[in-house]
Amino acid sequence: MNKRKQVTLIRGDITKLAVDAIVTSANKSLLGGGGLDYVIHKKAGMLMKQACIELNKRKGGCPTGQAEVTIAGDLPAQYIIHAVGPRWLDGQHNEADLLCSVYSNALSKADEMKVQTISFPSISTGVYGFPKQLAGEIAIGTVLSTLPHYSFVGHVLFVVQDSENYQVYQDLLSKIVDENLIINIEET
Ligand code: APR
Repeated sequence: MNKRKQVTLIRGDITKLAVDAIVTSANKSLLGGGGLDYVIHKKAGMLMKQACIELNKRKGGCPTGQAEVTIAGDLPAQYIIHAVGPRWLDGQHNEADLLCSVYSNALSKADEMKVQTISFPSISTGVYGFPKQLAGEIAIGTVLSTLPHYSFVGHVLFVVQDSENYQVYQDLLSKIVDENLIINIEET
């Protein structure tokens, strides 16, 4: 009997959660930037930084909509998944599809690494300005529709910092009825 998959909503700091893989909102260089990416690179330390420099040299970085995996260095995880989300322009530049791809590709990379627990921030909703409601719909829709197909990934944690994102995710997750899925919404 397959174990039921789990999805959890948490309001907090994603860098503090001990999971198998933490997803960061990266840019195409993979060399770190502002926002969450800056914090992840700072806290992960030199070993992860080195791995990113290697990736940048070998692959020239990572295109928007894709993701790459490195060790997590000093962070409480095995892996960091560097997910490159789209910058929001006007909704007419394939932004929704690219955001969907980045969640799907990050999950696929995680499953390849036999990751069982993975935490996602609300990708592209900070510096990249993606509308939070639409981003939440895409994040939850993509993860819930693909999660059943993965052999290893069993628990996805959505970790948001701000009240608007929390409200969006809470509203969306509280409407989901799926007997094969355990949904936990942690009160703030
Ligand atoms: N824990 C959880 N969520 C966080 C944390 C944290 N510690 N810090 C920030 N966030 C949230 C933000 O509130 C936002 O909702 O992560 C989401 C993504 O915000 P950004 O980090 O600004 O990333 P994004 O909008 O995807 O833009 C990516 O910004 O930092 C640069 O190098 C990065 O170029 C890339 C771009």
